Amino acid sequence: MQTKFYIKTYGCQMNEYDSDKMADVMCACEGMVQIDKPEEADIILFNTCSIREKAEDKVFSDLGRARALKQANPALLIGVGGCVASQEGDAIVKRAPYVDVVFGPQTLHRLPQLIAARRESGRPQVDISFPEIEKFDHVPATQTSHGTAFVSVMEGCSKYCTYCVVPFTRGEEMSRPFADVMREVENLTAQGVGEINLLGQNVNAYQGETADGDTVDLAFLLQSVAALPKVQRLRYTTSHPREMTQRLIDLHGSEPKLAGHLHLPVQSGSDRILAAMKRGYTALEYKSVVRKLRAARPDICISSDFIVGFPGETEADFEATMKLIDEVGFDASFSFIFSPRPGTPAAEMADDTPYETKLARLHRLQARIAELEKQVSDAMADTVQRVLVENVSKKNASELAGRTANNRIVNFAGSPGMLGRFVDVRIHSGTMHTLRGELVIQHE
Ligand code: SAH
Ligand code: SF4
Ligand code: F3S
Repeated sequence: MQTKFYIKTYGCQMNEYDSDKMADVMCACEGMVQIDKPEEADIILFNTCSIREKAEDKVFSDLGRARALKQANPALLIGVGGCVASQEGDAIVKRAPYVDVVFGPQTLHRLPQLIAARRESGRPQVDISFPEIEKFDHVPATQTSHGTAFVSVMEGCSKYCTYCVVPFTRGEEMSRPFADVMREVENLTAQGVGEINLLGQNVNAYQGETADGDTVDLAFLLQSVAALPKVQRLRYTTSHPREMTQRLIDLHGSEPKLAGHLHLPVQSGSDRILAAMKRGYTALEYKSVVRKLRAARPDICISSDFIVGFPGETEADFEATMKLIDEVGFDASFSFIFSPRPGTPAAEMADDTPYETKLARLHRLQARIAELEKQVSDAMADTVQRVLVENVSKKNASELAGRTANNRIVNFAGSPGMLGRFVDVRIHSGTMHTLRGELVIQHE
């Protein structure tokens, strides 16, 4: 008999990575298969996110829908994992007694045992502890047919920005040993993966232990991964501006496998707001990091995250952010209206800016970023770009979609056999995110 499970992912790349690991752990159990229709599942797992209020609200409305499915099928098991689970723990079962298991980002490898314990005891099971990073020793090696893969190298965050839940939901920074990361990368490249994206909430805070007890940083790790002949392209995300060391910056100039794109969240251009956020840098210090990066790699594209309407943000503070955007010339970026999160210091700060004002600021910021994004895309017209083929169109098998080094999607005609391969594509035209191009060469 097969047991069908369904996973819904709500959050960031770390959350997506965890969903993949949950699927790996479940599939290693006899008879488990993953499906994409919750209505047909025997087990529904929600991998939740609590970064902003909206994300969290969505989880509870989806849980309501799962409850209706369970009324029709009492054998259905419902599991809640991820950051909401980590923060709320038992409170989830109190609020939604039909939930069967609650697990955190660091206990997802225990899912099969939690499910078995639920079945045996008849009682909901909650395990949201932070058992170091033991999960990596307990998840099976990933099987993949994709050309690109994420590899988590560190977990958690110790920065405690005043608005953010991550240090509470995922625990303090903890790096995986160097040899473990290398083993996972080699397992992936042996399966044909050509692009590796090293992942962490503050990936450049990586401090991994080696077999002889030394500690190595992200620059060393990137160099070691780049030295593997099968690795063709390399990325890392997300970086904290405070930890862009000169060694890491220099690598952007000396390591051609490193993609010409960096996501470097700034949040605000106002020093007053940056201090209230406890980001640990000024706008000038941020610009100095960008200047050094561009000195090492003149064509590097920098994308960012912004929070608009942080408590006490004045028109002048917001103008400072707009000025920084023009000075840096950011590429595609994410921006959000500040969302007060229970338990964080910023949630207690006086905030008298009307929501409409915040929304107007967000729209202005997004419009400016969109213009800059378009400039980058326009400048790519008539250039030849190295593209990793990520998808074959469902409608037409000769239509492919790939990603450029600077994170643009390019659509072009090719053959489905190119999936997961690097090809060179001449860019014709495009809108902001998606470009159109023509195949020039296929690489081995
Ligand atoms: N560790 C990364 C980002 C983690 S969260 C960093 O520090 O750069 C991803 C993004 O969500 C953040 O960069 C921030 O822009 C946004 N964010 C986090 N908490 C938020 C909140 N309370 N309200 C609105 N946006 C938030
Ligand atoms: Fe959150 Fe700040 Fe840590 Fe990023 S660095 S995860 S914003 S606390
Ligand atoms: Fe959300 Fe947790 Fe990621 S709160 S953004 S899923 S670290």
